[in-house]
Amino acid sequence: MEKVILTGDRPTGKLHLGHYVGSLRRRVELQNSGEFDKIFVMIADAQALTDNADNPEKVRQNVIEVALDYLSVGLDPSKTSIFIQTQVPELCELAFYYMNLVTVSRVQRNPTVKTEIKMRNFEQSIPVGFFCYPVSQASDITAFKATVVPVGEDQAPMIELTREIVNRFNHVYGPTLVEPDILLPGNAACMRLPGTDGKAKMSKSLGNCIYLSDTPKEVKKKVNSMYTDPEHLTIDSPGHLEGNAPFIYLDAFCRDEHFAKYLPDYANLDELKAHYTRGGLGDGTVKKLLINILEEELAPIRERRKHFEQNIPEVYEILRAGSEKARETAARTLDEVRNAMRINYFADSDLIAEQAARFRAK
Ligand code: TRP
Repeated sequence: MEKVILTGDRPTGKLHLGHYVGSLRRRVELQNSGEFDKIFVMIADAQALTDNADNPEKVRQNVIEVALDYLSVGLDPSKTSIFIQTQVPELCELAFYYMNLVTVSRVQRNPTVKTEIKMRNFEQSIPVGFFCYPVSQASDITAFKATVVPVGEDQAPMIELTREIVNRFNHVYGPTLVEPDILLPGNAACMRLPGTDGKAKMSKSLGNCIYLSDTPKEVKKKVNSMYTDPEHLTIDSPGHLEGNAPFIYLDAFCRDEHFAKYLPDYANLDELKAHYTRGGLGDGTVKKLLINILEEELAPIRERRKHFEQNIPEVYEILRAGSEKARETAARTLDEVRNAMRINYFADSDLIAEQAARFRAK
């Protein structure tokens, strides 16, 4: 069986370091591993509209932001088809059929949807489209017969639902769709990178994000103001690692060779942590190390961004070509789905002949 990746992001803002360690970095590694036959990365503008129906301009402006973020981190259009969800209308048709295979109560149990309904104050009036987005996400994944979906853990319920839909579809209509596997980030820090304020998650509305497009000055300022350990009042006092943002970021970003380069007094992060816990290590040293490591990671991303920012028509051409490729693939799956569901009237000569005979015999 072909190995296929599909994943994507809603274009509701610029992408930040949480997205990077949670998924983007891994996508680039998978892309360059050469292990996959096809890779699709989708800008989920239709899904973004499910809770931004009254703000299409926000979605429209962020499509290009997300595309620039993708290209800057090293997604390579010669290996990865980057496309825009709404430009593949086949996905809507698939979703319409899948909706028959899912119950309302099944979607109501989805913990991510539950949280989002609370966050958006949708309790009283949930838009139908928003309620159905997990089903539409199953179309995104199955249209490409994705075998692997690299995402953060908040997306696990969507992948689970997709697998259920695949099983139900194949059971009712015959084997057609492929069951995908989720691929989660490697460690806990990557799974949920906290905001610079130490709060659980980076989020635009909390203003605690470091964006991939931030300048070196902005990154430095944000790291230097990061939440650490409020009880670590002097350098000599013992420090705590729990909830200590710079250390969690180091868990997500640093490798042993960074120490040889930037802080040779320590062999690795464990030694640095031990010193901090014991007392005698200041937050400034930790933050300086983190700034160096982030800069090493972000500098090439900024360079690539600069190139693409100067070539916006080229970026749209990449998206157009990617969408065309995605559409061909989705259309093939949709054909198979229609055949399996027996809604292929004009392509089914048996049906026509059989009915012709039946009516003639009347
Ligand atoms: N739900 C994802 C997000 O919130 C975006 C998305 C839409 C997606 N369709 C997908 C992710 C399919 C993976 C696979 O960012």
